[in-house]
Amino acid sequence: MTNGKKLIVGNWKMNGSAQSNFHLLTQLLRADLRFDVCDTAVCVPSVYLQQVKTQISDQIQGSKGGSIGLGAQDVSAHEEGAYTGEISVSMLREFGVSYVIVGHSERRQFHHETDQLVAIKAKRALGAGMTPIVCVGETSQERESGMTEAVVRRQLAAVIHLNGHCINEIVVAYEPVWAIGTGLTATPEQAQSVHAVLRAQLDAAGAENGRRIRILYGGSMNPANAKTLLSQRDIDGGLVGGASLKAVDFLSIIASA
Ligand code: 13P
Repeated sequence: MTNGKKLIVGNWKMNGSAQSNFHLLTQLLRADLRFDVCDTAVCVPSVYLQQVKTQISDQIQGSKGGSIGLGAQDVSAHEEGAYTGEISVSMLREFGVSYVIVGHSERRQFHHETDQLVAIKAKRALGAGMTPIVCVGETSQERESGMTEAVVRRQLAAVIHLNGHCINEIVVAYEPVWAIGTGLTATPEQAQSVHAVLRAQLDAAGAENGRRIRILYGGSMNPANAKTLLSQRDIDGGLVGGASLKAVDFLSIIASA
């Protein structure tokens, strides 16, 4: 649910090192981030959660309040047990994680995650008091064959179906697969029209009166295109990949919000 502020989330994907993370975060934490107008978070590789958590909390002491939120890029659909390599919601919670990306197209594509699995992951996150950032988006082939709306609606429907009224606590990210890491961005009109479809679907599913679930745009968002994208009626923020790895670019996107 939105508090009226935009939300800008960096998805670092499988990038970084202890040293480069430290430099990037130092620059972000030094900047004058206006937490009164924009919420910000970084979703980091799990092995760096402790490092990033510590660096953020060191900065909070002595700050005027508000800080960068911490997020994970995925979570297990299982609670605990014999699932080698997986990380549970309760483990993420120990690191102060407040956001978790579920259903990123790279997980759907390379790890064969289904709509149903993504819905279960969202439920796990919600059950642990974390905000799932539910990613939806069509491939270029699906767009060309006129299936964009049907695809994103189907992906979101699975999450709505399993999570009922708890969907008020999710964040949705529309990430057209063809725009991710390609330098091709959806035009503000293309993005807005899909966001409007998602908004209508959330409203019809009973998103509570007066509450607005945040719908982020992701896919080659950069300092040059952020402002126009973020000024669209139904775009409540951004999920930023490549540009979140460069402090100046990420800060510039935050400033556009
Ligand atoms: P890029 O910003 O690198 O296109 O990545 C978008 C994305 O997948 C964010 O989750």
